[in-house]
Amino acid sequence: MKPLLLSLCTTLCVLAAMAQSPAYLDENLDIEQRITDLMSRMTLEEKIGVLHAQSKFSSAGVPRLGVPELWCTDGPHGIRPEVKWDEWDQAGWTNDSVVAFPALTCLAATWSTDMALLYGRSIGEEARYRKKDVLLGPGLNIYRTPLGGRNFEYMGEDPYLAGKLAVQYVRGVQSNGVATCVKHFCLNNQEWNRHGVSVHADDRALYEIYLPAFKMACLEGGSWALMASYNKIDGQHAGHNYRTLQEILKGEWGWPGAVVSDWGGTHNTDEAVSNGLDLEFGTGTNGLYGGSRNTYDAYHLALPFLDGIRSGRYTRQQLDDKVRRVLRLHMHTTLNRHKPLGSILSPEHYAAACQIGQEGIVLLKNEGNLLPLKAESTTKILVVGENAVKMMTVGGGSSSLKVQHEVTPLQGLHRRLDGRVACLTWDRGYVGDVSGSYNGVTTGQDLRENRPFSQLVSQAVSDARQADYIIYIGGLNKSYGQDCEGGDRKSYSLPYKQDSLITELAKINPNLIVVNISGNAVSMPWAKDVRAIIQCWYLGSEAGTALASVLLGDVNPSGKLPFTWPVALSDVPAHRLNAYTNGNEEYKESIFVGYRADRESGSKRKGQQPSPLFPFGHGLSYTTFAYSKPVLDKKTVTPSDSLTVSVDVTNTGTVAGKEVVQLYISDPESRLPRPLKELKGFRKITLAPSQTKTVSFTIGSDALSFFDPAIHSWVAEPGKFVAMVGSSSRDIRAKAEFVLTKPAENQ
Ligand code: GLC
Repeated sequence: MKPLLLSLCTTLCVLAAMAQSPAYLDENLDIEQRITDLMSRMTLEEKIGVLHAQSKFSSAGVPRLGVPELWCTDGPHGIRPEVKWDEWDQAGWTNDSVVAFPALTCLAATWSTDMALLYGRSIGEEARYRKKDVLLGPGLNIYRTPLGGRNFEYMGEDPYLAGKLAVQYVRGVQSNGVATCVKHFCLNNQEWNRHGVSVHADDRALYEIYLPAFKMACLEGGSWALMASYNKIDGQHAGHNYRTLQEILKGEWGWPGAVVSDWGGTHNTDEAVSNGLDLEFGTGTNGLYGGSRNTYDAYHLALPFLDGIRSGRYTRQQLDDKVRRVLRLHMHTTLNRHKPLGSILSPEHYAAACQIGQEGIVLLKNEGNLLPLKAESTTKILVVGENAVKMMTVGGGSSSLKVQHEVTPLQGLHRRLDGRVACLTWDRGYVGDVSGSYNGVTTGQDLRENRPFSQLVSQAVSDARQADYIIYIGGLNKSYGQDCEGGDRKSYSLPYKQDSLITELAKINPNLIVVNISGNAVSMPWAKDVRAIIQCWYLGSEAGTALASVLLGDVNPSGKLPFTWPVALSDVPAHRLNAYTNGNEEYKESIFVGYRADRESGSKRKGQQPSPLFPFGHGLSYTTFAYSKPVLDKKTVTPSDSLTVSVDVTNTGTVAGKEVVQLYISDPESRLPRPLKELKGFRKITLAPSQTKTVSFTIGSDALSFFDPAIHSWVAEPGKFVAMVGSSSRDIRAKAEFVLTKPAENQ
């Protein structure tokens, strides 16, 4: 062939090849076809390479084929500041400040799927802008004990509430081409001995309490990743637990996503290969030194896995299942060329953080309508307490953040009131945690205090005599042993002698408002002596703005408790049954967690559940709401029917407000013990004064079912059921009975 013709042909072939992008990049093909093509081009080493970390927060792509690295980031409340390649230490960037959104307990307290979607979209935009592919959250572990160090990162005691909100959070984040990684799967309900504790929960508790939120987030929300927890389950580490990962998550649920280890949660190569782990992070990661012992190649899913495949100990099928799952994650993220650009530190994100906080603040008590504050030009306001000034976005563990700004409660009140009231002053009241740094991020605050507690109290008491209002702002904080990862609280009481201070203030001035900032319930021995109590979560960058707006009535509070607030720790089933921190935790309370332990008076069950200080679902408003009797669209249902429960709710007060209408279902005659009621629906509505809206819930037989371990299946037993609608789990406004019949003969 003549040289010219030859070179022309060669050129044409090269151009044709270039024009024909490889199938794995062809977005006209479905993801599985693209993954099949990509896997066919990968070497054995490249396949192994995508299954484990290459740095503290990234795993390898396939450089030769243009598959990018996969970058993960904490945490559920905001995007973690950059750390060094191989270490937890700060990388020292100056452009990685973020918006801190409220802690997820606050999101749960909004009882608003709209807020959950807004939250997910907003934090997902910040993750996308920071070029992160996987957001390590949300946390979905159930609130089993008020001592739980990480409860502030989770969404309360009820799996239906947590699951429904998680679905929206997941959809919001993933709409940005960023994966969520729901965590920590599962039975990780304490921090004490979190790497070693072995948990046993019976199948009813597992399927009815501890799995449902994860199942909703994975199947309804479609989370592309899930993080296995540190603890053991029945003696086998959750990070490679055959029962939970292979049998339940990937087997019964058929979930197609990638299982990510917790950092340092992988302990055994055989189990990691065989029991469902797909992506290994944090195994002794100091890949730069410590010889070959600690390099990334030493990971269980690295050279040990590769050697095992070559020796025949492990199969190609085991390898390819993991690779396919991890490449699915890549297809949704790193190889997704239509991802939005994201955004960060935007006014919209600050507004979202503020609104979620405003909707999550819970008005627990408001005797004589002390709130909202009447701030006039002659009004004198005293603020007392360290939490009025302490930044809370730094600390707490892996969810700690570096924020562009954080409005503290006192700053929020000054911004709202300066120039409008005669005076707004602050007294320290007590000394709590004066440290202002975590993992190399510092708040810049100097909270050191030389005065003794007695002097601080006498100062506050003296000033309280002159004030029209006292706003006490205390509670817990993000230091170790309080609301912080890696440890649990040692006591249910408020720390730093706050109880005695609050008691003294209540004696001096009846116009005392206590604002408790925490992610957990705390004992309140002074509750009867205090006219107004607010539960204010860790609200993030706009904490003070949100709190001030509620205290002053600019916003009518609408939050509801996502967990039961016990009077005493011994009221909590896990503690009453001595089923906490025994080393090998047996969840003796089974399904009777939180309000599910409630019993009608005269109940047959031993151990009458004491009334809580504040019940699950409780939260007051500056207005009032009336409920009609519920109307059912049928009084008899078959298992294949749906049932619609409708109720009219009216704002009977003088200001607009939001109400969370709650639907509980009761199965009074069941073959197996069941809670008195279980949450099966909720809806947050806005009502102007005198306005009425009809709220309808449509449920199926799944809402009537319990899990029967004997047949390993959900059962909706024919018989009487009661639909209860109310403003909290113990403020049931109306009930309606209906009957579930046997399935039709031909079914
Ligand atoms: C931590 C946490 C987990 C976090 C991970 C990475 O130990 O348990 O929630 O996402 O490590 O920081």
